[in-house]
Amino acid sequence: KNIIKKWNENNFQELLKKFLDFPEKNKNIFSIINQNGYEENDEISQIIEEKQKITNSPLTKQRLKQLSEAFAYNEKKMSEILNDFFPNLTNAQEIPKNIHDFYVPSQQTLALYLENIFRDFGDDTSSNENELSLEICKKLFKNLPQPIESMAVLGVGACRLALDLHLNLSIQKTLAIDFNPLLLMIALKMMSGKNLKLYEISSFPLSLDDVCRERILSYQHYKKISGFFPILADFQHLPLKNETLDVVLTPWIIDILPLSFNQVSAIINRVLKKGGFWINHGPLGFMHADPLEQLTSQEIKEKLSQNGFEVSEDFVEPLPYLQSEIKSQKRYEKTYNFVARKKSSIPEVATSLLPDWLCNRDLPIPLSSELKQQQIIAKTYADVFCSLNGTTSYNQLLELFSKHYKMPLDQADQTLLHLFTKFLDSQKRTLK
Ligand SMILES: C[S@@+](CC[C@H](N)C(=O)[O-])C[C@H]1O[C@@H](n2cnc3c(N)ncnc32)[C@H](O)[C@@H]1O
Repeated sequence: KNIIKKWNENNFQELLKKFLDFPEKNKNIFSIINQNGYEENDEISQIIEEKQKITNSPLTKQRLKQLSEAFAYNEKKMSEILNDFFPNLTNAQEIPKNIHDFYVPSQQTLALYLENIFRDFGDDTSSNENELSLEICKKLFKNLPQPIESMAVLGVGACRLALDLHLNLSIQKTLAIDFNPLLLMIALKMMSGKNLKLYEISSFPLSLDDVCRERILSYQHYKKISGFFPILADFQHLPLKNETLDVVLTPWIIDILPLSFNQVSAIINRVLKKGGFWINHGPLGFMHADPLEQLTSQEIKEKLSQNGFEVSEDFVEPLPYLQSEIKSQKRYEKTYNFVARKKSSIPEVATSLLPDWLCNRDLPIPLSSELKQQQIIAKTYADVFCSLNGTTSYNQLLELFSKHYKMPLDQADQTLLHLFTKFLDSQKRTLK
């Protein structure tokens, strides 16, 4: 509450008047807490605790004990951080009733980017990632007209790069936007000079010493910060007025959004002043199922010019990514960096992620070919799994299945084996 008070004193009213425009739809930010929950870690610590009881290896017991304690501690700390800022929000009645208002892609859980927090503010400096990213961004900003009055950083995460740029380039106002409240709350803590203890849990430990490590998070330049505003909002419903910003920075985000590149461009075009700059820094690991949207740097340049932008600079730079002394694997990513100047405005593009029949629930659900396919899969699964009662053998089931579906035995065998192996594999899924 003290942090919020300090933040509010920081010219928030002026910011509100000049840049912010809160649409009703912004309620959807609450869903990431309610829909995806931070209980995820709690569940993991309980599963691990159960396993700890059944192993008779002292070393395995030791590893699982460290893990369950670290998960339980992190979960408690994360709940506290969120409750400081959203008392009662975990209460389900706060969720807006219309799904259209609060849809967040299901893979976006609160703890998804915990590793970024350790990279941003932790005490493991072995790969210098923050400094390397800052150097690349400084190059990108070098030829921009100075001073920069206003910048929005979209998908800002825990804010380290945005804070470093804000301070290094003396940007007057930085709007640091992300829809993950945990990351922004941790950024606020860091900005107020507080330390935070969390456990980094290694996804790939080679030794028992590397299973998890206590980390003290902090930001040493906190005293110099002013004019930096973390804002909890969704990229798709940016609470920003039209044509108000000098710069929009998209660090490590354009490829993970469930939007087409044209939709992303239109959103950024809307909020930039004419002559303003879009700066991108990050890889092109597009997560779209649609091959049309798995774009390369050349295609991006082409699309930028079709969307009212002129590219003045672009280059590729490989960078270490989320490396840590307790992981046995090291990741490098080639980042695609560009500076694109807004030459002209373009029409707004619709960005709803949900079909009409989920926005208006009285509409009939159309039978698309994908849905028909899903029906066949669901029915086969139901036929097989619901017919089991603990006494049927595989061969008995095979005979019934082949008769029921009028399928030759070898084909039925293949289908059944596929179903069962898929099921068994899903049971062995990693907890990471
Ligand atoms: C790969 S992380 C990068 C974070 C940060 N820019 C960095 O470089 O460390 C992607 C970030 O985008 C945020 N994000 C994803 N979808 C978003 C959306 N629709 N609106 C706002 N933020 C989003 C995530 O919460 C996450 O912080």
